[in-house]
Amino acid sequence: MSTEGLEALVREAREAFAVSADSVSLEDAKARFLGKAGSLTAMLKGLAALPPEEKRTVGAAINQAKQAIEAALEARRTALAESALAAQLAAEAIDITLPGRATDVGAPHPVMQTQARIEAIFRSMGFDVADGPEIEDDWHNFTALNNPENHPARSMQDTFYVDAQDASGKPLLLRTHTSPLQVRYARAHRAEAFAGKPIRVIAPGRTYRVDSDATHSPMFHQVEGLWIEEGIGFAGLRGVYQSFLEAFFEDSDLELRFRPSYFPFTEPSAEIDLRFARGPLAGRWLEVSGAGQVHPEVIRNFGLDPERHAGFAFGIGLERMAMLRYGVSDLRLFFENDLRFLRQFSTLGL
Ligand code: PHE
Repeated sequence: MSTEGLEALVREAREAFAVSADSVSLEDAKARFLGKAGSLTAMLKGLAALPPEEKRTVGAAINQAKQAIEAALEARRTALAESALAAQLAAEAIDITLPGRATDVGAPHPVMQTQARIEAIFRSMGFDVADGPEIEDDWHNFTALNNPENHPARSMQDTFYVDAQDASGKPLLLRTHTSPLQVRYARAHRAEAFAGKPIRVIAPGRTYRVDSDATHSPMFHQVEGLWIEEGIGFAGLRGVYQSFLEAFFEDSDLELRFRPSYFPFTEPSAEIDLRFARGPLAGRWLEVSGAGQVHPEVIRNFGLDPERHAGFAFGIGLERMAMLRYGVSDLRLFFENDLRFLRQFSTLGL
């Protein structure tokens, strides 16, 4: 093999590498020159047949050619890897000038905002805040509240029953009001009441009745209130309730009216109405709570002594308060989950 022949071979290899567009064809090209059956390998094998003198010079020339081809191969490998990386980077490029995607920030539901507001006001007046089971037994929901079995007053609260029974075999039910929490809380704190400490608590929560129209929903919220203390009565109720409403509506010009009513667990009983002097609802009496002096029979069911312990209770309709505060006319809007409605409350404070 002549020196020109070797030079031509090196040129040929360089060209073959240069036109290899990817690593697969580059490795094919490499095999043609440097592989076991490659041209250069064949030449090296041919050396054996040459006389010793030629063997040295031809061998050195072939080696040089081999190194040149290997260098060309390595250079092409590097070039291909660099352009592959550049192509990948271009394909995965992120346009950092695009505007970001905003995340939605949640907000408390308007009814929950109202609940938190009511809790804060009553806490500031020294009330504890309690809760209890939504699935109640008959005794706490009705009987302990002086609502005897088969009494027609029970039908005032048509009820959802649960397919399970209490120890006495009566079906459990979804509580129809938060008043059973009066019983649970007072019984849990009766030792304190006997020690002369007042019971002062509100208990907000979900309640259930078979009722559905613009101002009633089968699921709604109440806030129960209870104050038991020697000598406490209607005057105390009026004072507490007036302060509460003034704080809740941030309005000290509103009027309160007690309208005689009936609840089996209070005697006397009243509906509390409220009248604004200002604003869009001014001049109309609006019903906001049932209330009354706790019935002596109920005091006894609290495990307390009706000769010593007296007090008042009230039940606030939570949605009603939210409707009045925000000027919402249909209660069902609160539970339809329409974000166009709910978003309007998302920037309001408590
Ligand atoms: N539990 C009564 C209702 O749901 C409201 C109420 C509570 C009345 C406390 C008097 C005292 O209608």
